[in-house]
Amino acid sequence: MEELKSSVTTLSAYFITLPLNRSFRLLSLFMVLLITYSCKKGTPTPVTVSSVDTTTLRSVASFPIGAAMNPDLIKSNTYYTKIAGTQYSSLTPENVMKFAATEPSLSQFSFADGDYLVSFAAQKHMRVHAHNLIWYTSLPVWVINFQGDSLAWESMFKTHIETVAGHFKGKVASWDVVNEAIRDDNGTLRNQDVNAGDGSIWRRHLGPDYIARAFQYAHEADPNALLFYNDYGQEYNGLKLDSIIALVTKLKTRGIPISGIGIQLHIDINTSNTGITTALQKLAATGLLIHISELDISVNPGNNQNLVLTDALMQTQAAKYQFVAQTYRASVPVAQQYGITTWEFSDAVSWIPVYYNRPDWPLPFDASYNKKAAFYGLLKGLQ
Ligand code: G3I
Repeated sequence: MEELKSSVTTLSAYFITLPLNRSFRLLSLFMVLLITYSCKKGTPTPVTVSSVDTTTLRSVASFPIGAAMNPDLIKSNTYYTKIAGTQYSSLTPENVMKFAATEPSLSQFSFADGDYLVSFAAQKHMRVHAHNLIWYTSLPVWVINFQGDSLAWESMFKTHIETVAGHFKGKVASWDVVNEAIRDDNGTLRNQDVNAGDGSIWRRHLGPDYIARAFQYAHEADPNALLFYNDYGQEYNGLKLDSIIALVTKLKTRGIPISGIGIQLHIDINTSNTGITTALQKLAATGLLIHISELDISVNPGNNQNLVLTDALMQTQAAKYQFVAQTYRASVPVAQQYGITTWEFSDAVSWIPVYYNRPDWPLPFDASYNKKAAFYGLLKGLQ
């Protein structure tokens, strides 16, 4: 703090000597005094270069720049809300539009949290990319226990898609219609996988063409929404990447209303740059919209329980964020750039430390909502 006050004094003296016009000099001095006053009041947030830097991600990006968000955090955390509403031009609901959240009991729909995010996004002039209609996991128990013949399954599946997509019709720009339908090991559709938890009850009860029907039902319910297939692992699993491309190409050829592909990019600092570039180039060659839909960059892929976040690690992470944004711009034609979305934006609320039970810092803002080197890497990659 003492160091800061002394810099402020030096800065004030500097401004007075500058050959600037009077009003600008007065404004500059006012800013300096304001900072000094904040220091004296003991404002808890440290005043750093980044906190007075007003360049936002959305102001520099030539396409929508988004983050997954959570309505409870918007309601309860002013730091979170400020960043959400100023840095981003696109919002993906992290959890509240998933099946378990929107239809927690059979035919009982729940839209309050989704509506809240839609209204927050509208206030802040953000696009909503909705996530997701059909996924093999995050299902309510009643779906897992659902009994019925194939007609009953089809009706339950169709009703869910039509009701949810219909409710948000005209309020969201796009949907991840089907999420993560392809197996990691052999590129076929999830069905009765080796690990039963990874299988898809949808494929099991509805047959392989459930994906095409999900897109048709979503399109009927909201004809203007852009519809995406979304999956992970495309940057390191060539077999899976090719299977996804074959799947969407076939859908497109059949006239199924698919507009785009989401490449999640849950990556880490060691992920091969070539893998990222190849995936983006191959996906772009489909001619569909390409959305980097869930970007985060782990710094602890080795699960080191004692890892300390060093400056070197932060710089490596920043370079990776910059690389991803630059490579997206270089590999995906402008007309196909649906945007880049990070999966949340603060290390405080990332899914990674919880899911992998390890220390990790994958996002552009730290756990106190300060900008990290990663933020500046992403910003640079977008410019
Ligand atoms: O809301 C309940 C809460 O009531 C309960 O007390 C608590 C106890 O476990 O669980 C809470 O639900 C958790 C939910 O996140 C909200 O925090 C679920 O257990 C937890 O499984 C869920 O995890 C989400 C996960 O998807 C599964 O739906 C993560 O937040 C979310 O980041 C993650 O996102 C996925 C994308 O949808 C698809 N791609 C991969 C990505 C990362 O896994």
